[in-house]
Amino acid sequence: PYENQITQLMSKMTLDEKIGQMSQFAIDVLLKTKDNVPVEPIELDTNKVNYILGHLKAGSILNVPAGVAQKPALWEKIISEMQKEAIKATGIPMIYGIDAIHGGTYSRGATLFPQEIAMGATFNPELVYKGAEVSAYETRACDIPWSFSPVLDMGRMPLWPRMWETYGEDTYLNSTMGVACVEGYQGKDRNKIGMDNVAACLKHYVGYGVPVSGQDRTPAMIPQIELLERHLKPFAEAIKAGALSVMVNSSIVNDLPVHANHHLITDVLKNDLHFDGVVVTDWQDINNLYVRDHVASSNKDAIRLAINAGIDMAMIPYDPSFCSDLKELVLEKKVSISRIDDAVRRILRLKYRLGLFSKPTWNIAPYTQYASDAHQKLAEEAADESITLLKNDDHILPLSKNTKILLTGPNANSMRTLNGGWTISWQGDKADQYLPNGITILKALQEKVGKDNVIYEPGVTYDMNGPYYAENKPDFAKAVAAAKDVDVIVACVGENSYAETPGNLNDLQLSENQQELVKELAKTGKPIILILNEGRPRIFSGIEPLTKAVLDIYLPGSEGGLALANILFGEVNPSGRLPFTYPKYTNLLTTYDYKPCENRATMNGTYFYAANNTVQYPFGYGLSYTTFEYSGLKVNKTHFLPNDELIFTVNVKNTGKVAGKETVLLYSSEEVASITPDNRRLRAFDKIELAPGETKVVTLKVKASDLSFIGLDHKWHLEKGAFDIHVGSQSLKIYADTTKIWQNYLKE
Ligand code: IFM
Repeated sequence: PYENQITQLMSKMTLDEKIGQMSQFAIDVLLKTKDNVPVEPIELDTNKVNYILGHLKAGSILNVPAGVAQKPALWEKIISEMQKEAIKATGIPMIYGIDAIHGGTYSRGATLFPQEIAMGATFNPELVYKGAEVSAYETRACDIPWSFSPVLDMGRMPLWPRMWETYGEDTYLNSTMGVACVEGYQGKDRNKIGMDNVAACLKHYVGYGVPVSGQDRTPAMIPQIELLERHLKPFAEAIKAGALSVMVNSSIVNDLPVHANHHLITDVLKNDLHFDGVVVTDWQDINNLYVRDHVASSNKDAIRLAINAGIDMAMIPYDPSFCSDLKELVLEKKVSISRIDDAVRRILRLKYRLGLFSKPTWNIAPYTQYASDAHQKLAEEAADESITLLKNDDHILPLSKNTKILLTGPNANSMRTLNGGWTISWQGDKADQYLPNGITILKALQEKVGKDNVIYEPGVTYDMNGPYYAENKPDFAKAVAAAKDVDVIVACVGENSYAETPGNLNDLQLSENQQELVKELAKTGKPIILILNEGRPRIFSGIEPLTKAVLDIYLPGSEGGLALANILFGEVNPSGRLPFTYPKYTNLLTTYDYKPCENRATMNGTYFYAANNTVQYPFGYGLSYTTFEYSGLKVNKTHFLPNDELIFTVNVKNTGKVAGKETVLLYSSEEVASITPDNRRLRAFDKIELAPGETKVVTLKVKASDLSFIGLDHKWHLEKGAFDIHVGSQSLKIYADTTKIWQNYLKE
């Protein structure tokens, strides 16, 4: 609807103004800070503002310094002054972007949801949708209309420090949650984003999640079949759902940095997937084509490569020469003016869609629900549904409220560990400082059962002045002594917060100190309930036999302590399911959807790694305080054609004594195909709630075309033949009656 307005506006813009729109600077370079401490802003620095907004005519700004967390008035002043300067310079409002990846995040005690990996564990897209709605509202309440979220990279490599920013290892789960998140952020009409909504930014396109080394921003080698079938799919689905922007993967995929990959950015994303939004780089990544990746001979050459590949906006362009170099490239005809116009049109389209021209600045007054009880309650509900019970020997859980507890471990009393990275600050390391009233696990247990019932002795603590993994000298003796007077030990272990490259890891094992703490405590003979508060599955197979119960709480957000207490004392029945395969050995990192490496007929419906006890817990695993029974799996047609919809029904009964939520997962296994089929693939799921004794009929729909795979010719194929369908304990066979090949990534 805005194309005529955009054409008119662009006809009046100079080349400098157009190029300015394509640049995005960090607010840090516009601020005066207290004693030069970057997190303590005081005010805008007029000279810098004049340069970035006035002279370079920058079209976008990003980041929020942690220091504004408790100073909304200061933030309001800073952001509205900046906007006025931008409009004064070009008549066009700047667009502000932020990594509000799990809630309002940066200001005024916002609501903080579980991080994406935990939202994946809920298997509840409705919660993802509602959580995204609240996050959008609270982000917009800070006058920020653009959130760099969701991450739709695949969490298939547990060493990778950004695994927790994903919805886990499965393509269908990522696609479903990605769509729900985009719809929650953006609201109903992508052309008219409301004042309570923000533009989503899908990241990091594409293939970022599986670096060969496991280290962040290192190369990935992804076979084309795998890239198209697993990694591209969630982006394609979220784009179909209307996502308004995409951020590019910082790294190299199959020998070419994605920022220089014309095929992936222009041919696939913009042309095949019909993406009409903005493609933004990651931090300084045009410059990186030159200084890091060695595909450009100078910074100017890097700009040529990236803009010609299809990049629309440069996040942290190499200053001061991005604007002048790009202008020269246009004048030298090395970058066409039509490419510039395409980029600027996309950027202006986004600004119109966000209503920035009609309402460029902030007014906090209407946002009365900011960090409201209702928002916090929703975050608690999401945390409740994400927490995953992995072991519960002798039904030790739930605990009675009279139980005397030793609470121990480095994660027992920290808002930082509950929230993870991108909370208040990049590394999440300011959470305890800026959320002083936050409810840690310790506070939550004390509130639930009284201070007298909870003895706190951490045994191991993190060294807050070191890197995220640094620990202080442990003191096991105090914890062991305290264990003598209690009924159970709740040991909260895992990781401290981190984000991106600083979160790199060489060994997936839980730290030696933490394992040692559990071993020492086990000698007391008191039952141990292990709480894993972690962003990726840290291997703990050496101490698992010493535990009675295990709960993975992932990074559950600001209400995570409360949610854990709800579950420990049986006020909530756990219903989270693992969104990844939990490894048992460092040398056996796998996913559930591998190609078979043994005769499938001998596997008896279970799958190889789990059946052979070589993973700690399989994908989709999670226990409950009740039991469920499956029966009567049926399908509307056993023989189908490529355009059919398959409708499966199954009865699920709660056979236990308490109400509970069950995630019903439907997997397909193709029996024979022209390339070896995956052992099984998740095709549909639903989460239901059942009272004791209650039965529900669950309906799961699968489009026949979704059973297709990418063949050696890199096209989608649905081949004639049989598929085994598994739902819980039930299975049946269905048959594709004719074959079909789809030429394009977008199946009809
Ligand atoms: O959005 C992030 C991205 O995920 C990693 N690099 C920095 C960007 C902006 O903060």
